[in-house]
Amino acid sequence: MSRPLKVVLRREEIDRRIAELAAAISRDYDGCEPVLIGVLKGCFVFMSDLVRKLDIPVEVEFIRLSSYGPARTTSGRVKLTHGIGTPLRGRHVLVVEDIVDTGLTIRFVLDYLRRKRPASIKACTLFDKPSRRLVEIRPDYVGFTIPDKFVVGYGLDCDEKWRHLPDLCELEE
Ligand code: IMP
Ligand code: MG
Repeated sequence: MSRPLKVVLRREEIDRRIAELAAAISRDYDGCEPVLIGVLKGCFVFMSDLVRKLDIPVEVEFIRLSSYGPARTTSGRVKLTHGIGTPLRGRHVLVVEDIVDTGLTIRFVLDYLRRKRPASIKACTLFDKPSRRLVEIRPDYVGFTIPDKFVVGYGLDCDEKWRHLPDLCELEE
């Protein structure tokens, strides 16, 4: 069976870049014991690779959102379906995203978490599509800046398919 997939980033390349991100995060948060908050479901592969490359202690939490609309777009109507129970007041928070596209999702997440009065809040995304931005958001840590193509694999899906692929692939029409 042929797949409508073209590899854009191989697993080895992704792995090397995550090591660099982990080194930067370990350096910047040394002595802070930050709370890493992953945005489900897309973050699950990246988050698990990232935390194992850190050499500082961290806590791990997840939030889950739903956004309505067709598989390849964000409607902007984001709803929280699983929030954070633990207190974040005075903590250093790092949000971990798979991909920032229009920026609507990460803006929603940052607004939600800021209300919990953390000491600091930053965002880390593995993939960034700045050309698609609708709101002015620049993540603090970016793995790869990629062109405006719909990608799957390494945790990213299209209609819940392809998350398991180890390489990042472009989904062709
Ligand atoms: P945003 O709100 O437009 O920034 O979109 C963020 C969310 O849309 C991500 O967390 C992904 O779940 C999804 N998304 C955006 N672009 C892609 C893509 O190319 N492939 C798979 N999911 C994507
Ligand atoms: Mg998604």
